Amino acid sequence: MAKVEKVLIAGGGLMGKNIAFVVSSVKEFDITVYDINDVDVPAGIRVSTQQLVDKGIVTPEELEERLSRIHFTKDLDSDRVKNADLVIEAVFENMDLKRETFAKLEARCRKDCIFCTNSSVMSPSEISRDLQYRNRFVGTHFWNPGHLIPLVEVVRTDATDDDTANTVMEFMARIGKKPALCNKDVPGFIANRLQHALWREAISIVENGIADAATVDMAIKNSFGLRLPQLAPLENSDMVGTQLTYNIHNYVLNYIEDSHKPSPVLDKMLAEGKMGFKSGEGFYKWNDEKIAKCNADLNTYLIKMLYNK
Ligand SMILES: NC(=O)c1ccc[n+]([C@@H]2O[C@H](COP(=O)([O-])OP(=O)(O)OC[C@H]3O[C@@H](n4cnc5c(N)ncnc54)[C@H](O)[C@@H]3O)[C@@H](O)[C@H]2O)c1
Repeated sequence: MAKVEKVLIAGGGLMGKNIAFVVSSVKEFDITVYDINDVDVPAGIRVSTQQLVDKGIVTPEELEERLSRIHFTKDLDSDRVKNADLVIEAVFENMDLKRETFAKLEARCRKDCIFCTNSSVMSPSEISRDLQYRNRFVGTHFWNPGHLIPLVEVVRTDATDDDTANTVMEFMARIGKKPALCNKDVPGFIANRLQHALWREAISIVENGIADAATVDMAIKNSFGLRLPQLAPLENSDMVGTQLTYNIHNYVLNYIEDSHKPSPVLDKMLAEGKMGFKSGEGFYKWNDEKIAKCNADLNTYLIKMLYNK
């Protein structure tokens, strides 16, 4: 497996900064964030990790020590870019920009430098389409907030070689993530396919007047949602028995949502300018206070679940 010491993060926005923080958990890694814009990486990381410090999960001294090992450059021709062993790209979600970024990196980095894209929805096969050494390219989908959510989907393209996939899986485990190997480059990879199958049904239940939004969310939070971190669907299927799973599917799959288009409920909301947090109304009504509480509660919950603090 390839040795990884020098890690380059291309794009120092929300995800890039948090990824840099996660990588800094391993002292041996030499970390560089590259961005075309001036980015105050330490300031961004200090904000996103404030709760970790407040709860004593990371001490202020440890945070500063980790920040001191994260370098920043705007110079694509710097040795920090050329000598990278592994690049995680986290620039804007734009296919042309991502292709252009990797073309520039390929012209500068070693041909065995591993290239990873953090795109949440775009195909890594398509992003790497025009590269010369496609074997060393892989998708690495970190979830937001990147410093908290353990999962990283490692997505093989049609050309990713085993050594690259294995090296990236090992790298992600080393920085404390839970890597999931996605053997096929399919839209939604693994977790978003699952997540949006549920969202589609949730919206459909509202659309069909079976229950309102608050009732749907409440039902999820107080039933299978509660046990999901401990008992996931396929374990659950074994627990109840595959015969029962078969019988349930044989009956209920005839009735649950199978539309291949976004719900008309979403069409209507968009037409009415109901954009969720952005406009103050979506499935629910929001104001600044409620939005801040919703964000803070999520982080508090994740920290409690992950660190028991
Ligand atoms: N935000 C999320 O919830 C989330 C979750 C998972 C994955 N992602 C993916 O991560 C990637 C980054 O998302 P983000 O939310 O951090 O975006 P962001 O807008 O916060 O940051 C993007 C950064 O890329 C920089 N950039 C733009 N063009 C560049 C270039 N040519 N070279 C170098 N840097 C450049 C920008 O200056 C900016 O700092 C996207 O592909 C996105 O889909 C985002």
